[in-house]
Amino acid sequence: MGVTSSSSRKNSKNPSAPTTPTRVSSNKELEIIEQNVRLCRDLLTMWQSYGSVEATPHKLISISDIVREVVAGVGAMAEETPVELKCDVTEDPCSLMGDAVQITRAIQNVIINAIQASGDRKGTVEVSCIRKDFYVDVRIADTGQGISPEQIARIFDPYFTTKQGKSGTGLGLFITRKVVDDHNGSIKADSTPGIGTTITIRLPLINN
Ligand SMILES: Nc1ncnc2c1ncn2[C@@H]1O[C@H](COP(=O)(O)OP(=O)(O)OP(=O)(O)O)[C@@H](O)[C@H]1O
Ligand SMILES: [Mg+2]
Repeated sequence: MGVTSSSSRKNSKNPSAPTTPTRVSSNKELEIIEQNVRLCRDLLTMWQSYGSVEATPHKLISISDIVREVVAGVGAMAEETPVELKCDVTEDPCSLMGDAVQITRAIQNVIINAIQASGDRKGTVEVSCIRKDFYVDVRIADTGQGISPEQIARIFDPYFTTKQGKSGTGLGLFITRKVVDDHNGSIKADSTPGIGTTITIRLPLINN
């Protein structure tokens, strides 16, 4: 990429002429620029999605259908990795009043984290959707690297990421928790370093 740094040399013959860049940015600088562009993009998406949470009236949605669709959608990504993606979804529709786009994004974030947690190693990600009386549990269990006790307290914080220089902005779980809160649900993380992580999203269902 032909990006140049902002430092430049004055044209002594014609000071008003365009200036000449003196050096090409280093890879490190390009990496920082790239990270910041990504951050801006994700912030924009986040604020746009916050807007739509308030603007979009909640509709009757099926959590079971959404889980099946998300798993089908990330299936292609999982196939590029040594991770086996399994899915067990109740026949019950698990209906609630909500925003399908936001719920889709929230579940997608967690499943992508679970796939990424195995790195280049073999592993499994098991997604289940189980109805329990008046709520549904969407559970995403992986056999990845796990999360240390110091880090687990921070995973829902904005910008907390251990994926610097890769794809991570640290906004995935922050947005997921916001969406779950907006649907009066809860999210919890259980993890054992070296063994794996289970994230459980619990959402209240409509009375039927
Ligand atoms: N299943 C998991 N296994 C291990 N660590 C995880 C898991 N899920 C989340 N984490 C940890 O929590 C951090 C924050 O996750 P979050 O989804 O918010 O951001 P990210 O994945 O780093 O970046 P982004 O979602 O923007 O791509 C991750 O960087 C990782 O350290
Ligand atoms: Mg993430």
